[in-house]
Amino acid sequence: MNLADFIDAHRDQHLAELCEFLRIPSVSAKTEHKPDIERGANWVAGNLRAAGFNKVEIVPTALHPLVYAESLEAPGKPIILFYGHYDVQPPEPLDLWTSPAFEPTVRNGNLFGRGTADDKGQVHIHLKALQSLQHVNGKFPINVKVLIEGEEEVGSVSLWDYVQKNKEKLKADALIVSDTSMLGKGVPSITYGLRGLNYYQIELTGPERDLHSGVYGGAVPNPLTILSELFAKLPDKNYPVTLPGFYDRVAKVSKAERKSLNALPWKKKDFEKAVGAPGYFGEAGFTTVERLWTRPTFELNGLWGGYQGEGAKTVIPSKAFAKFSTRLVPDQDPHKIAKLVEKHIRKLLPKTVHCKKGFGKKAVFIREGGSIPFVTQMHDTFKVPCVLLGFGLPDENAHAPDEHIALENYFGGIKAIAHFYADLATL
Ligand code: BES
Ligand code: MN
Ligand code: MN
Repeated sequence: MNLADFIDAHRDQHLAELCEFLRIPSVSAKTEHKPDIERGANWVAGNLRAAGFNKVEIVPTALHPLVYAESLEAPGKPIILFYGHYDVQPPEPLDLWTSPAFEPTVRNGNLFGRGTADDKGQVHIHLKALQSLQHVNGKFPINVKVLIEGEEEVGSVSLWDYVQKNKEKLKADALIVSDTSMLGKGVPSITYGLRGLNYYQIELTGPERDLHSGVYGGAVPNPLTILSELFAKLPDKNYPVTLPGFYDRVAKVSKAERKSLNALPWKKKDFEKAVGAPGYFGEAGFTTVERLWTRPTFELNGLWGGYQGEGAKTVIPSKAFAKFSTRLVPDQDPHKIAKLVEKHIRKLLPKTVHCKKGFGKKAVFIREGGSIPFVTQMHDTFKVPCVLLGFGLPDENAHAPDEHIALENYFGGIKAIAHFYADLATL
């Protein structure tokens, strides 16, 4: 049987197996899911063995285990390192899922469930492509190293340590990643740039304890109001971030590159349909594609404090909190950005509140690009080519309720990757 026929003949089996993987709620952000993370790592290790890897290791780290496997039995052929992650984002808000997040369900040619697109479905594409090659040819066509981690969605902090301690082991001719999206259905896409990320949390304290807002209101600073005022000051009406120095080192995108990015078959209509906002805005002087892919941003990710339960509670909260992040582009330095963010915020805050840490702690940042931290870690460590071949689609609700993957891309992906690996053997 040839490769494509073999893959077609195993569709049901592949899908059933992926569903088993998706049923493990391996949410890296929450301690309560630690046992599921362990199960996730074990599942990946078992699946790698089934795919034909003899050397498979589960490596404990300071946080979540990573799984490493290798097969170096194709002398003279290239060595690739395939990277992916088995951890997923929290599924909340649960009531917005049409079918439960961890009960994978097929509807309309799509498979729904947390992790379908980001990244379990895409990891499974590679494992099944490799397994198919093994079955049809009796061996892998190239040398393969595999690294599947459990901390990507929380910043891949332990991975950095592992890379530094295992440079020889991870050496490869190229890094292959499937953890991105295609431009649109039917547009196979290779991603050559990502943005980086700094993540922050802030805690403001006003009064020492919660207060009756009738008895004290009007004479006591309200930390929630002060926090809202702070965030209202950070962007201006043309959107740019107002932090002094924020744009100082942003590398200029060449005219030619801007031209080629803006000429892509990217459809504003599809983007707006996927987002569903009543209106759009962004940094003046840049197209939407440029704003999304080439410009740094400041985003508020969560803001809380006070009372949010049923009914009314007249309270001046003692504390107010926010989570926020900056997306970074080449050549911004994440350490410098973190410092200037802290400095500016401290300057803007009035003396009526205390501001607690959050800044400067080990943040989930990566140098020059890459919100897939490992890509920059690899690039910085080995300078190898990094190939990002994503099978997700921009409207597949990654990180949101009703995440899904198009079955066409899942099954098509297995074939594409199997052939891609086979082709690499002919280089
Ligand atoms: N797979 C995504 C990154 C991604 C998605 C890149 C689509 C390009 C297109 C990854 O799992 C992710 O969500 N990364 C986090 C960064 C991390 C440090 C928390 C992100 O971008 O928010
Ligand atoms: Mn991902
Ligand atoms: Mn993600």
